[in-house]
Amino acid sequence: MKHCIITGANRGVGLALVDQYLRQGDWHVHACCRQPEKADSLRLRVTEHLGRITLHPLEVTDQTSVDKLAASLKDQPIDLLINNAGIKGSKHQSRSDMDYEAWMQTFAVNAMAPLRVSEALLPNLKAVKGAKIATISSQMGAICHKGTGQYAYRSSKAAVNKVMSILAQELEADGLVCLLLHPGWVKTDMGGSHAEITPEESAKGIMQTIEAATVSDNGSFFKWNGEPHGW
Ligand SMILES: NC(=O)c1ccc[n+]([C@@H]2O[C@H](COP(=O)([O-])OP(=O)(O)OC[C@H]3O[C@@H](n4cnc5c(N)ncnc54)[C@H](OP(=O)(O)O)[C@@H]3O)[C@@H](O)[C@H]2O)c1
Repeated sequence: MKHCIITGANRGVGLALVDQYLRQGDWHVHACCRQPEKADSLRLRVTEHLGRITLHPLEVTDQTSVDKLAASLKDQPIDLLINNAGIKGSKHQSRSDMDYEAWMQTFAVNAMAPLRVSEALLPNLKAVKGAKIATISSQMGAICHKGTGQYAYRSSKAAVNKVMSILAQELEADGLVCLLLHPGWVKTDMGGSHAEITPEESAKGIMQTIEAATVSDNGSFFKWNGEPHGW
């Protein structure tokens, strides 16, 4: 059985990713969320897929929480970590109306936590040859993608692209594969009901793209449909 860890797994793209991996017979899913006791959707999956999914409490910005996750997974080889948890940030993130405190929180979740979680789980990932770290970024973090406003969100995703590109180089010698993925514009609480694709479509494409990636793709930025994404 292969093991994957998904952060922000209780709704949206994260929950859809949980379903995709459960649908494959050979994965055990470690689904992380802030309050497993209130995560009804995930708890339902636990009863429907007995022994195939484990729920873990995880606040990605809290080092103690991240360390507890790593301790609970001690000696468990991990094939795949998906850093999915993310926030849009404050409504006040325009040039003339900026909530700077909230901008820092957006950075903590979107840009810093993926490294925090990846670093804590590195021993588990290094135990599997060719293990992968996939981080859900956004086209809004690409410098080549034009768009104004939403300074906090855009800059936090641009930052995580750089963070993961550094990590990819540092882990190359270990044979790990770090990927960045734009999930599409997805109908979730974050993407809204007018978005272009469903969480299922996004998650299916993300899973196939991760599956197809090899060491030669280390450090690459993809769209959910497997196409390369510009930086
Ligand atoms: N939807 C889109 O169109 C779109 C487009 C581009 C990129 N993305 C990216 O795709 C990823 C998933 O987005 P989504 O649309 O599924 O968003 P979503 O529906 O708002 O879900 C976000 C998930 O992240 C979790 N989360 C937020 N802050 C967290 C924290 N501090 N610690 C732990 N978990 C935390 C949430 O948990 P709670 O339920 O506890 O809040 C929730 O499970 C994000 O990284 C997002 O930036 C989405």
